[in-house]
Amino acid sequence: MCLVRASRYTTLTERPANRSDGFVKAVVYTRYGGPDVLHLADVPAPVPGDRDVLIRVRAAEATKSDCEFRSFRYSVKWIWLPLRITVGVFRPRRRILGGYFAGEVVSVGERVTRFAPGHQIYGAAGLHLGAYGEYVVLPASAALAAKPKNMTFAEAAAVPLGGLNALHFMRRATIKAGEHVLIIGAGGSIGAHAVQIARSMGARITAVDHGIKEEFVRRLGADDFVDYTTADVTTMGGRFDVIFDMVPASPFRRLLGMLQPGGRYLNGNPRLPVLLRSATTPRVTTAFAPETTEDLTTLTAMIEAGQIRPIVDRVYPMSEAAAAHRRVDTEQRVGAVVLSMDSLD
Ligand SMILES: NC(=O)c1ccc[n+]([C@@H]2O[C@H](COP(=O)([O-])OP(=O)(O)OC[C@H]3O[C@@H](n4cnc5c(N)ncnc54)[C@H](OP(=O)(O)O)[C@@H]3O)[C@@H](O)[C@H]2O)c1
Repeated sequence: MCLVRASRYTTLTERPANRSDGFVKAVVYTRYGGPDVLHLADVPAPVPGDRDVLIRVRAAEATKSDCEFRSFRYSVKWIWLPLRITVGVFRPRRRILGGYFAGEVVSVGERVTRFAPGHQIYGAAGLHLGAYGEYVVLPASAALAAKPKNMTFAEAAAVPLGGLNALHFMRRATIKAGEHVLIIGAGGSIGAHAVQIARSMGARITAVDHGIKEEFVRRLGADDFVDYTTADVTTMGGRFDVIFDMVPASPFRRLLGMLQPGGRYLNGNPRLPVLLRSATTPRVTTAFAPETTEDLTTLTAMIEAGQIRPIVDRVYPMSEAAAAHRRVDTEQRVGAVVLSMDSLD
């Protein structure tokens, strides 16, 4: 196999020993459906262009978003049509999922100066996806940064989705030290990072999620915890400076009534009424977080400073991608589920 063309690209001399046929392993899906549509296959090795980076993926998070792409079932309905047109009307256009990963640079295109072979990096593939494979090619301009030195590849792969989105929203919330922040969905990939980032900003945090995640979320920095399966936070009399909500089913109007004067409500997973309201009400913010190299570099620094800790629940070999997705779908996890590309067992 020719992973790279040596005359045009700076390469690692080492190549995978058993990959001489031009193919590499990847978890693929060719139709929308349950976890069992995922299977391991040989796919043509991706070839980088002049402005690209060829990355050996070591681990990728199996995210809620990946499960949504796979099944094409969304609790936020308005997103269905535009996304379906983008992703593939009858079948997925991109057969390899995986938006968030950690790995090593194998080679770079001749116009790339930011990276060199051997660099350990992590990042977000955006709508290119493709990180559920042994190798992925991304433009060097993608959200890629040095992997935190104090995290394993699996731990680092669990950062970019949650970390980038949480950092974006916590900054938009302009949290001041001592403010009281309510985080709904605090045990999810984005929520668990939001708890840690809000904590680093000096906030007092009330977290809402399933009771099985209480210990996990408290360990990350939540002061108070509400189990949504047994209690309704909107009837508990709390008042908040910031409410960060990742749950589409949340009672939006009642939550707005819980804001302190000057309070801000931010929703990362908005239904249509919330989206419309955000256009006319300054204290309501909805957004799709831009995922940038600058923010990822900030996250690396926060991790190395001990402000953000690993949130891995379980690591599965890529051959068990269906089981990994089942764990995410059925929400038995406490933290992030990760696929390891290091073992095909
Ligand atoms: N705005 C953006 O830019 C953006 C970016 C990426 C993703 N998203 C979307 O954001 C969503 C969440 O992302 P994620 O990766 O953080 O998902 P996630 O890991 O599944 O987290 C969601 C969390 O909310 C909990 N939850 C469910 N119902 C709840 C309720 N009524 N009250 C409180 N907590 C509840 C879930 O717990 P259970 O175990 O009980 O279900 C889970 O812990 C996804 O649907 C994704 O598509 C938005």
